[in-house]
Amino acid sequence: MKKKILSIALIGAMMLGIVGCGGSAAPEDAADDETTAPEAAEGDTSALTGTEGVLIWGTNAEFEPYEYMEGNDVIGIDAEIADSIAKKLGLTAQVENMDFDAIIPSVQTGKVDIGLAGMTVDEERLNNVNFTDTYVEAGQAIIVKEDSGIKSAADLNGKKIGVQRGTTGDEYVSDEANGVGAASVERFANGPDATQSLITDKIDAVVIDNEPAKKLVENADGLVKLDENLTSEQYAIAVAKDNEALLDAINGALQEMKDNGELQAILDKYLETE
Ligand code: ARG
Repeated sequence: MKKKILSIALIGAMMLGIVGCGGSAAPEDAADDETTAPEAAEGDTSALTGTEGVLIWGTNAEFEPYEYMEGNDVIGIDAEIADSIAKKLGLTAQVENMDFDAIIPSVQTGKVDIGLAGMTVDEERLNNVNFTDTYVEAGQAIIVKEDSGIKSAADLNGKKIGVQRGTTGDEYVSDEANGVGAASVERFANGPDATQSLITDKIDAVVIDNEPAKKLVENADGLVKLDENLTSEQYAIAVAKDNEALLDAINGALQEMKDNGELQAILDKYLETE
């Protein structure tokens, strides 16, 4: 319904010659593009998601700058991506906040339509869900106290390391094959809980994604992030295996956001450029 109104407005604008190529009207360009989101272009989005007209995104909003709370709202990079994708598909984004390790099961059971949570594509997850094209590069970083003797990854040997449960940071530190040599791995519900434990000396280091690590350090006193990254990862959006139509539609929307600079603008808004 809303989509139709937007399309009519767009056609009107085109007739008046207001809309050029690319430019600010780009969010509606998908409607003209046969290769992207044909379902959305027809205005029939009922088959795409579990609830007609709504795109429910599952996340864990304790992951600034990707998703975090501001009052009762979930804001951040992923929140803006969710809104933009939903709009392109003629849907309204609705967030479902949960523990990180509940997101993939929720996608699988259809409790949410997508998992959008700074989530890294990895082989094990690919057994359970599909991932869209990737939208950002990331890596695991190390946070320590300012006065700690830990200067590099090698110094993690024999240390108590905090991670967010079920994340790639958890996997990396826990897998002995990676040779981190942690004395123990302490698993927390979220990054802020892990850094709190670091501040009170219950653990020696926190391993978490690079950009959230910067924010955690910024938001606390006496913590530093080491320069070295332990991994190189890519974030994408998780979609149920049986919903190829939604996967294709989102890939179309993401491509459009990459092509028209919208994605970069969202990233620039939240990420410090070095
Ligand atoms: N990139 C990491 C992973 O996929 C951590 C993601 C944590 N996301 C969050 N919203 N808490 O496992």
